[in-house]
Amino acid sequence: MTAQLIDGNALSAQLRGDVARRAQALRAQGITPGLAVVLVGDNPASQVYVRNKVKACQDNGLHSVLEKYDSSMTEEQLLARVESLNQDPKIHGILVQLPLPSHIDAQKVIEAISPAKDVDGFHIASAGALMTGMPGFWPCTPYGCMKMLESIGYELRGKHAVVIGRSNIVGKPMALMLLQKDATVTICHSRTKDLKAQTLQADVIVAAVGQPNVLTADMVKPGAVVLDVGMNRNGEGKLCGDVDFAGVRQVAGYITPVPGGVGPMTITMLLINTLQAAERSA
Ligand code: GUN
Repeated sequence: MTAQLIDGNALSAQLRGDVARRAQALRAQGITPGLAVVLVGDNPASQVYVRNKVKACQDNGLHSVLEKYDSSMTEEQLLARVESLNQDPKIHGILVQLPLPSHIDAQKVIEAISPAKDVDGFHIASAGALMTGMPGFWPCTPYGCMKMLESIGYELRGKHAVVIGRSNIVGKPMALMLLQKDATVTICHSRTKDLKAQTLQADVIVAAVGQPNVLTADMVKPGAVVLDVGMNRNGEGKLCGDVDFAGVRQVAGYITPVPGGVGPMTITMLLINTLQAAERSA
């Protein structure tokens, strides 16, 4: 069996079409949805990510501003910038790119963002809303994974989902979203004793560790759905995920590629969250 691909580029193109239409409708009411992206320091991966986020806004009728600061920026200065963006009526969403330089307390900066503009969904208020099933912004990467499952008409109720990774950005919110859809959810991590014993039970596997080949073909139940959140460079410098794609695609029912899988969906969900923030403000 060869798995069917879930094409994140194709799904993103479709969803971004809806985004562009909704943005146009808002502009007709005199509101241009606006996203502020703040980058501190010169992390090369972050530079690429923020460029892609800003470009996606421009391509789909959203206003965006990119604020770049030297790594010597102080925490106090950054908090002041965030406060000013909180007050800016042209800005509906604020994203402070992580990681931040080590002298800045990232959580403190995240908590300074107004929850109404927290389009990353990292604020403690957003996390609490997700946990309790209240309305709020969902973190973009796991939200994109949910859209991918929805796109194949996958019914999660009663299924066993295994999430590998427990970060605040992906693993934990992913588990909560799957749980909200009535899946039975297991979270695995670096201290899990027998990862393979867990993944072999899974109908859905989300790999979000940041390490190549965390999931290999022998760890996957035939027909399972495999979502690969990883974004790594292999020995030859080529982009790869956390999943041994060539092997696992021979066993899985569905699989997301890297690149062209979850990555573009993350940016698409950021656009959707920003639109939602603008619509709520209207
Ligand atoms: N760094 C890696 N992923 C993300 C993300 O989704 N949002 C922000 N703000 N920083 C990140």
